Amino acid sequence: MAELEFHEARLQDQWRDANPGKVVPPALARLRSWHCTIESRVVGHCEGDSMSGEIIGLSVVDAYRRQGIGTKLLSLLVEALRAAGVPRVWLAIPSDRALPAYGFYTTVGWVPTGEHTRDGFEIWEPRTSLQS
Ligand SMILES: CC(C)(COP(=O)(O)OP(=O)(O)OC[C@H]1O[C@@H](n2cnc3c(N)ncnc32)[C@H](O)[C@@H]1OP(=O)(O)O)[C@@H](O)C(=O)NCCC(=O)NCCS
Repeated sequence: MAELEFHEARLQDQWRDANPGKVVPPALARLRSWHCTIESRVVGHCEGDSMSGEIIGLSVVDAYRRQGIGTKLLSLLVEALRAAGVPRVWLAIPSDRALPAYGFYTTVGWVPTGEHTRDGFEIWEPRTSLQS
């Protein structure tokens, strides 16, 4: 059976290859991204900002959900962001408890901080960050 593989995606290198001679846009230069692949096909990805510490995206293809892929991708990215020296790792999600993301982030130990973004999204952090 084909194995799942986890690796950091070099998005900046891909951009340089597609745009020879151009300077990588700052927002992309700061981005860290981890992929889960099966036979070279991406079945999950997770992105974060290595300056602000924000988790920007996390998604797993339907057929591969509930196998621990989201948990592993998030943990690899959080580790990479912390190693990059971010002051805080956080994310913003809509205030809708019916969203799958609520069950997921709660299970993996994240909690709402009580803060909100200007557009009303809830800010969450890993519980361990709040205790330290
Ligand atoms: C949220 C998402 C990334 C989870 O990915 P995943 O690979 O299925 O997550 P895991 O298998 O690591 O799940 C770990 C635990 O989280 C919880 N969980 C995961 N998905 C859940 C859901 N839809 N509802 C409730 N709890 C959920 C479960 O407790 C699960 O453990 P279990 O399967 O043993 O019960 C995936 O459902 C997804 O891509 N959703 C659409 C995009 C999205 O909402 N992204 C997050 C917002 S940025």
